[in-house]
Amino acid sequence: MDHNRVIIFDTTLRDGEQSPGASMNLDEKVRIALTLEDMGVDVIEAGFPIASVGDFEAVRSVAQVVTRSRIAGLARAVKGDIERCAEAVRPAALSRIHTFISTSPLHMKFKLQMEPDAVLAAIHDSVTLARNLVEDVEWSAEDGSRTEHDFLCRAVETAIAAGARTINIPDTVGYAVPEEYAALIAMLLNRVPNADQAIFSVHCHNDLGLAVANSLAAVNAGARQIECTINGLGERAGNAAMEEIVMALRTRADVLPYTCGVRTEHITRASRLVSAVTGFVVQPNKAIVGANAFAHESGIHQDGVLKNAATYEIMTPESVGLNRSNLVMGKHSGRHAFRDKLKQLGYDLGDNAVNDAFKRFKDLADKKKEVFDEDIVALVDDEVIRRNDHIRFVSLEVIAGSRGPQKATLELEIDGVVQVTTATGDGPVDATFNAIKALYPHQVRLQLYQVHAVTAGTDAQAEVTVRLEEDGRTVIGQGADTDTLVASARAYVTALNKMLLKREKTAPDALSA
Ligand code: KIV
Ligand code: ZN
Repeated sequence: MDHNRVIIFDTTLRDGEQSPGASMNLDEKVRIALTLEDMGVDVIEAGFPIASVGDFEAVRSVAQVVTRSRIAGLARAVKGDIERCAEAVRPAALSRIHTFISTSPLHMKFKLQMEPDAVLAAIHDSVTLARNLVEDVEWSAEDGSRTEHDFLCRAVETAIAAGARTINIPDTVGYAVPEEYAALIAMLLNRVPNADQAIFSVHCHNDLGLAVANSLAAVNAGARQIECTINGLGERAGNAAMEEIVMALRTRADVLPYTCGVRTEHITRASRLVSAVTGFVVQPNKAIVGANAFAHESGIHQDGVLKNAATYEIMTPESVGLNRSNLVMGKHSGRHAFRDKLKQLGYDLGDNAVNDAFKRFKDLADKKKEVFDEDIVALVDDEVIRRNDHIRFVSLEVIAGSRGPQKATLELEIDGVVQVTTATGDGPVDATFNAIKALYPHQVRLQLYQVHAVTAGTDAQAEVTVRLEEDGRTVIGQGADTDTLVASARAYVTALNKMLLKREKTAPDALSA
């Protein structure tokens, strides 16, 4: 392989799903995995199979459908984890077990309560077992960036000797700074006797906002795999954002002379999909994928861009898959134009899904004169991504106004059966949420309710975000509609479905990776 080729390892489905509030169902994970495969991602970490039956099945399903990317599953240095992981990735054309254990003094003493020699023995045993089950094994030193150098060298040497061919040195707590982290990778490459038998990988968290800078510095020092996520999703402040890494490699090839296999034109599509699935709105000023990333506000900048885009744009919107033409659609647009529009926006849907989305588009076009790209994205994400949910929104009628009591009559489909009820509340939103609680009794707590307009104008769709909490676990749901109350009901129902999914996870200590 080309010495300057960087392997892109995406962990949106594993570390990304560990973001507080994020959870994805099996269909959503498969959709994201297929999108990542289309993008040209080398390795997709599809989940943590021991964490729950749902995680296991998701990794297995991804392994069954993806053929061009390697499918990895995560496992602690424990026999049961590794065997379960091997079973989950078995159907993959290209598979990998990614096993890890902590190596820092702090983690060994307090988290593992193991002596360093016992950790070395666990590394040897876990990698050996994994290598007996699959050809391709990656080993990670959790909290690697806070590990004593001598011990880290011994741990890495042990893992390579046992058969690991990728060695990952995570900055688990996002503590490193670029020069220090690069020096750590260089130190390992220089000092570990069998270092030439493995590819060194980095996995950086963003607690100090340095995840991308640390990852690129490590590549300069010799690392050749970067672990990252779409939109920078991940534990706490998240992981290194894939879109930032690959666009930095593409835009600054003069000082970063490395290549990767990601087709950057797929970035916008992947970012929108991940945002819709998780309910994590991308901040407007987010690099590469934020709504303002290619917008120019000041007159001086606008003037410059009109004369020559390069005056203020270091990348073209097209290079990240952002189409400049915002072909507006209306109620006279036909199914064919709608299907073309979906393709242009990056959706490759089956006939049934297109028909459902088209029906909702027609309803929307009846209410709204012009339907923009953003409207279609909101509508398709809402309709298509949520189609296999346990609880589905059907209809809502609300009596609102100053006289009260506000009343909501709601129809939901719960496990295929349509049910209806009427509830009152302290305002129309409260009445709507009370109706949901009456149809599907539950104890979760509403932590956040937020509304924003998808486009300008009084006929704009409202996008509502709802955050629910239960026993310390949070989930986020989004819904869009020209009627704010319908959008509210959809958002709440989406979040509730996600909470049901979260309840399945049975191995909380496993999720501390
Ligand atoms: O942050 C971390 O250390 C991890 C490892 C399991 C790779 O996610
Ligand atoms: Zn991590």
